[in-house]
Amino acid sequence: MTGAGLEGIVAGQTAVCSIAGKLIYRGYSIDELSVGADFEEVAYLLLHGELPSYDQLGEFRERLGAAYVLPEPVVELLTKLPSATPFMDVMRTACSVLAHYDADVNDDSRAAEMRKSERLVAQLAIVLATAYRLRTGRALVAADPDAGIAENLLTLIHDRKPDPRAIRALNVSLILYAEHEFNASTFTARTVASTLADLHSAITAAIGALKGPLHGGANERVLEVLEQVGAPANAEQWIRDALANKKRVMGFGHRVYKDGDPRTKILDPWCAELAASTGNQAMEQVAATLERVVRAEKKLPPNADWPSARLYYYLGLPVETYTPLFVVARTTGWCAHVMEQHGDNRLIRPMAEYIGPPERPFVPLERRS
Ligand code: ACO
Repeated sequence: MTGAGLEGIVAGQTAVCSIAGKLIYRGYSIDELSVGADFEEVAYLLLHGELPSYDQLGEFRERLGAAYVLPEPVVELLTKLPSATPFMDVMRTACSVLAHYDADVNDDSRAAEMRKSERLVAQLAIVLATAYRLRTGRALVAADPDAGIAENLLTLIHDRKPDPRAIRALNVSLILYAEHEFNASTFTARTVASTLADLHSAITAAIGALKGPLHGGANERVLEVLEQVGAPANAEQWIRDALANKKRVMGFGHRVYKDGDPRTKILDPWCAELAASTGNQAMEQVAATLERVVRAEKKLPPNADWPSARLYYYLGLPVETYTPLFVVARTTGWCAHVMEQHGDNRLIRPMAEYIGPPERPFVPLERRS
């Protein structure tokens, strides 16, 4: 019998990403990608398998720019959803509905899946920005087709031109969230794809999987914790009480990275820089205390959600956008995996060990007590 949660099980092969020792996207280390590339270059790398040339990147950006314009019925739908709908649910619903208005909806060829993937990456970013603008009662404005996804998200959420360091910081975060091998949401996408269901079905299911607090939903919970703790003076007592009460501290622990998540050390300096430039050093102090105590008491290092939540807060992003931002980034990895699955498919269908009652005689309804 396998371990619970498929722990330690190699469930398939992939050429998209390796997390053995280092986090590598199609052969390139995240250490280098997060310094030298924009999110769009990494999106292209994950989807197409190679880094783009200058011309290929320009054309890719043009295709993304064209896809920033959402189909009118999708915008209309966003205006009709109940006003308290969580943004992750908005993303999931929008992803599903986008399929109906995609020109390639009935075409599952590799070329069509690539076109759908590229469009979805751009569309889901604009769905988030649109949903946020509607929620905050602001007029809808067009995204800038010449600007990248990070810049557009910041502009549309804040209604002002972002600082170049903020754009770079969001690019780095999107790059680090873009792909992560057979995590729960990606495995979900691949399982759906393995039935030969379409790309939008697989990504819609993946969004549902990412929503949970043990996965992507943790980044929003991290911010709630940091805000709950408040002042640095409260931090030590708060975390010791939480651990004594056997609370699961969001942003710590990882199924695979037991010695540390390589994404955190890339994000930490960004948190320090942005905290200093935005006057949020107190939150960094709270985070440092919590991290020190969790490491010492539980031997648990933080995962990527721990610095990401702070980074988003320092960028002035509303907390309810944090997990949807993860969706925007991870759509690149999910789509790459769906195409890889469809390229060499075998139905994913594991087995279960039965632990229910042994076979017993059926009792007709009138004789059941
Ligand atoms: N806080 C407190 N204790 C923890 C935490 C945590 N965040 N994570 C694990 N533990 C403890 C467990 O209570 C358990 O202790 P025990 O053996 O005394 O019962 C032990 O560590 C092992 O925990 P498991 O849940 O078996 O470890 P698993 O590999 O399944 O956990 C997981 C991985 C789900 C990510 C877990 O660490 C967790 O719940 N973390 C908080 C949620 C989170 O941050 N999720 C984001 C994941 S990364 C990402 O999506 C980018």
